[in-house]
Amino acid sequence: MDAREMKIKAAAAALEHVEDGMKLGIGTGSTAEEFVRLLAEKVANGFRVEGVPTSERTARLCLELGITLRSLDELPELDLTIDGADELDAHLTLVKGGGGALLREKIVACASKRMIVIADETKQVEMLGKFPLPIEINPFGQVATRIAVERAASRLGLSGTLAIRQSGSEDYYTDGGHLILDASFGRIPDAQALSAELAAIPGVVEHGLFINIASLAIIAGPAGARTLKAI
Ligand code: A5P
Repeated sequence: MDAREMKIKAAAAALEHVEDGMKLGIGTGSTAEEFVRLLAEKVANGFRVEGVPTSERTARLCLELGITLRSLDELPELDLTIDGADELDAHLTLVKGGGGALLREKIVACASKRMIVIADETKQVEMLGKFPLPIEINPFGQVATRIAVERAASRLGLSGTLAIRQSGSEDYYTDGGHLILDASFGRIPDAQALSAELAAIPGVVEHGLFINIASLAIIAGPAGARTLKAI
């Protein structure tokens, strides 16, 4: 089974948690897109949902496939969000933002009663941090913010390359007009402490650590999809 087939398996299992009439947060990334495609098939057969997309990219795909969209201001309280992740551990702490949508993803997930994360089994790790942590920062004062992030990390014994994400030869900008600093710490033994340090830096808009947000993970491997609750 290749990676795409595993993503489809996870997406299909997540779809079983979606009920007719739900207000749904819709994630971003290749796994979330498989979910959107399967959801669109059900919608074409009369299933009703209203979706709040977590990125312009997801919004375009949903509109193309006929899924009704609303803004989060129209639907500020959602039943469920389904989204992918770059890494997840046994506590269902996630690293997200590989696709650059972490800010909207976190706002939408936190406005939902439940978040289900869908992933292939390669995303499951003992300790977070191999995947560079995306940190969304304001372009104003980006050098000062980067230094502050370095110092915060060093207080926790973390170090590694901090790189402003590029798109071709230019800086990458998020849907919100911010930059992404990808932090290659290699290991994040205390996500809570790092989250608190990063949140205290004024130029940091948001970071990709999702702590106590996902209530269920659906992990797909060659043997099929299994669900995982936080320990
Ligand atoms: C988007 O910003 C991310 O948080 C994605 O959810 C994450 O990168 C997973 O993407 P894939 O499903 O493409 O691996």
